[in-house]
Amino acid sequence: MNKYLLQLGHCPDASFAEIVAVNERLSIQSESLERHGDVCLLHAPSSEIIHSLCEELGGTIRAAEIFYHKKGSDFSSLDALTPERLCELLQSAQIDRRLMERKQRPVFGISLASAMETRSSRAVESLLSRTAVLLKEHLREQGVSCRFIQPDAQGKSYCLSGAQVEKNKLLQDGMEILLYMHPRDGLYLASTIWLQHYEEYSRRDYGRPGRDSRSGMLPPKLARIMINLVRTTTTSTLLDPFCGSGGIVTEAGIMGLQAVGLDKSSKAVADTIQNWEWLQSNLPSSQGDVRAIQGDARNLHTLCEPLFFDACACEPYLGPPTNKPLDPGRFEALTRELIPLYLRALAEIRIVVKPGSRVAFIAPRFRLKGDKEIGSLALLSAIKLQGYAILEPLAGFKPSNGRTTLIYSRPKQVVQREIFVLKA
Ligand SMILES: C[S@@+](CC[C@H](N)C(=O)[O-])C[C@H]1O[C@@H](n2cnc3c(N)ncnc32)[C@H](O)[C@@H]1O
Repeated sequence: MNKYLLQLGHCPDASFAEIVAVNERLSIQSESLERHGDVCLLHAPSSEIIHSLCEELGGTIRAAEIFYHKKGSDFSSLDALTPERLCELLQSAQIDRRLMERKQRPVFGISLASAMETRSSRAVESLLSRTAVLLKEHLREQGVSCRFIQPDAQGKSYCLSGAQVEKNKLLQDGMEILLYMHPRDGLYLASTIWLQHYEEYSRRDYGRPGRDSRSGMLPPKLARIMINLVRTTTTSTLLDPFCGSGGIVTEAGIMGLQAVGLDKSSKAVADTIQNWEWLQSNLPSSQGDVRAIQGDARNLHTLCEPLFFDACACEPYLGPPTNKPLDPGRFEALTRELIPLYLRALAEIRIVVKPGSRVAFIAPRFRLKGDKEIGSLALLSAIKLQGYAILEPLAGFKPSNGRTTLIYSRPKQVVQREIFVLKA
């Protein structure tokens, strides 16, 4: 059994919850899953299995195969490492042999797996670039002539960009060496084997023809996370009763599901159909089937057959777009408007999904003016009263933040997304 490292996207809780769900569905060694901040470690029998797991995921950025582990508290933070020490460790891990196996004059790069690094960016950059210089010199002495590339400084990430890895063919002919300092377990060295298809996601996000930026469009990566949170081995039909321009249903179609989108706006229905046609001609591998109908989510039972769907995922109307924190009075008024819509829609969803189906539902949380920083909608007890079980996607995994829901948001975002995962 080999050990692998998955680098989680910008909302690591949601990305990890997605891995847990897909791992369960594909039955891959779930007992070995371990998570620390923005990194997940797991065992798997082969890198092919990791590839197939990652191809399903929307929230994971990279996968790497671990080839060296140095235990000890001295190696649990970058502080104890000098370029000389790190270069020695890379030599102990037989990096020269590994690179020689690749190609004449291979290219390598050194990235940090976790962005949760406390050292200053300058110190990290200097450690990585001086180590690369030392390693190149050492390799030349061993008769291996190679070239290295350095991460473009991007905020707090010390990783090569996907474009750098691809342009320099590091996965095929060279190596991206990923360093990971486990908080208790020492240093891991890994070699990247899979990268998220960032260009395809970006094309689906910004290139789709039917758009409505005012009502908000779900990024395809989040759409995929939502679908994975509700999909089980028996899921073939999925409903989104607030489909907008079809972010969730079209992603479900790419994933091979039969998806039905409903929206009260005729433009949203036309956008969804247009986007699905566009995707079918641009991504011919999309095997599923997508339909869109106009209607009100508060009347679902009149529009859809009872107990028909295997799963439901949606982002309803979140209130008018705003980029300014709300004053408490405005928040109260929005609460009075949104809660009845959500509870009514959830009651209707329960009629049209099969018993035991999972439902992923996004509700907004708002940044507020004044002392109380965040205002969330008090939905949990009413949802339970409707007969739903609240699934806790991260229960049983440490570190637990005690939350029942998942937050998907950028720091300081005014309207944040809170994902409820329910069982009907
Ligand atoms: C935030 S958008 C959904 C975005 C969508 N997930 C996407 O990726 O494009 C919310 C949508 O809910 C629709 N909507 C609002 N109230 C509705 C209702 N009562 N029934 C059905 N659709 C509704 C709006 O027309 C809007 O398109």
